[in-house]
Amino acid sequence: MNREDFEMLKKDLIYFDNSATTLKPKQVLDKMLEYYNEYCSNIHRGDYSIALKAENEYNKVREIVKDFIHAKENKEIIFTSGATDSFNRIVFGFMKYNLKEGDEVILSKSEHASNLLPWMALEKLIGIKIKYVPLDRNYHVTLANLEKEITPKTKVVSLAYLTNVLGDVRDIYGIGELCKKHNLYFVVDAAQSLGHLKIDVEKANVSFLGASAHKMLGPTGVGILYGKRELLEKMIPLEFGGGMNANFNSSGELELKELPERLEAGTPNIADVLGMGEAISYLKKVGIDNIYKHEVELKKYFLDKIKDNPKIEIYNKDDKSGIISFNIKDIFAQDTAVFLDHYGIYVRAGNHCAKILKDELHINNTCRISFYLYNTKEEVDKLVEVLANLDDIFNVVI
Ligand code: ALA
Repeated sequence: MNREDFEMLKKDLIYFDNSATTLKPKQVLDKMLEYYNEYCSNIHRGDYSIALKAENEYNKVREIVKDFIHAKENKEIIFTSGATDSFNRIVFGFMKYNLKEGDEVILSKSEHASNLLPWMALEKLIGIKIKYVPLDRNYHVTLANLEKEITPKTKVVSLAYLTNVLGDVRDIYGIGELCKKHNLYFVVDAAQSLGHLKIDVEKANVSFLGASAHKMLGPTGVGILYGKRELLEKMIPLEFGGGMNANFNSSGELELKELPERLEAGTPNIADVLGMGEAISYLKKVGIDNIYKHEVELKKYFLDKIKDNPKIEIYNKDDKSGIISFNIKDIFAQDTAVFLDHYGIYVRAGNHCAKILKDELHINNTCRISFYLYNTKEEVDKLVEVLANLDDIFNVVI
């Protein structure tokens, strides 16, 4: 890992908001520019050399993603605009037609809005029933609690692998086993995890998975939908148009293309897909396990350093990830973020789009530090130094 690859890191700033989005290395940006400058053309329709080159590069990314998540075949990988788009397609393109009134979907209260709101909308639309698996006292989903919620009416479990506020890592292989045993669809929100934790979708018995490129060094506006082939074959496209039809006529007869094109209507986001492929290659070179280890180490380093600061309340000390949710006693979370910004340190504050987690945590807003591969102990030292001296917080914030 070379910090020099990240232009943003040459500025005088400390970026600790990697769960919101990550910085982009020059390799990713160069790849996108290469497409625009050297073989800019549309795919699936050109019969000239640069169009074939663009198509070839685009298809290579499908292979990269397939290998990255250990899917069986390229056809199981659909490019979307991001995790939100992926979840909407899963819920409204598949579940809407394969669930019925009274069927139960198990979620948790620590899920992100993108894995809650589509299900809530489906509940209103067709009468499915959402159940929230009770979290244990560490706000974790346990297999025992999950199994207790499963009834003959349960059809789906939809959970994040790594949550975005508390950074708890779920036992997706155990959950996958449970889903197999009870014949349930297992939907995995990998938005926070894909650039941090390895996944084998086959071993984990995942039915569908959604993730975004921008949270793993890639560009915004592009992401992944994975689905088992036999499930994607049954998915109804949410978008119709060019590129996805094999034939149609004036009587309204429509024949769709094979997977994956049938689920990618219109001109695809070619440059960003190429950027995503490069981001994954970058991550693989560094090694996902090394990245995870580094983040966990930084978290431990931070916790050790602030353990004697009585003003800092940490909500997820024991969660093994690079995410730290905290508050300064008697200080509003957003004020802490503004205070840190004054010193060029960027963290996120608020409810982090997990608006019902407060039912469990009983805290509306937190500050969140989220580390990534380029963060350093020196940056953590600077944060600790600033947090040790909160005397002027009101002068800064007001
Ligand atoms: N979901 C992103 C976050 O957790 C935006 O910050």
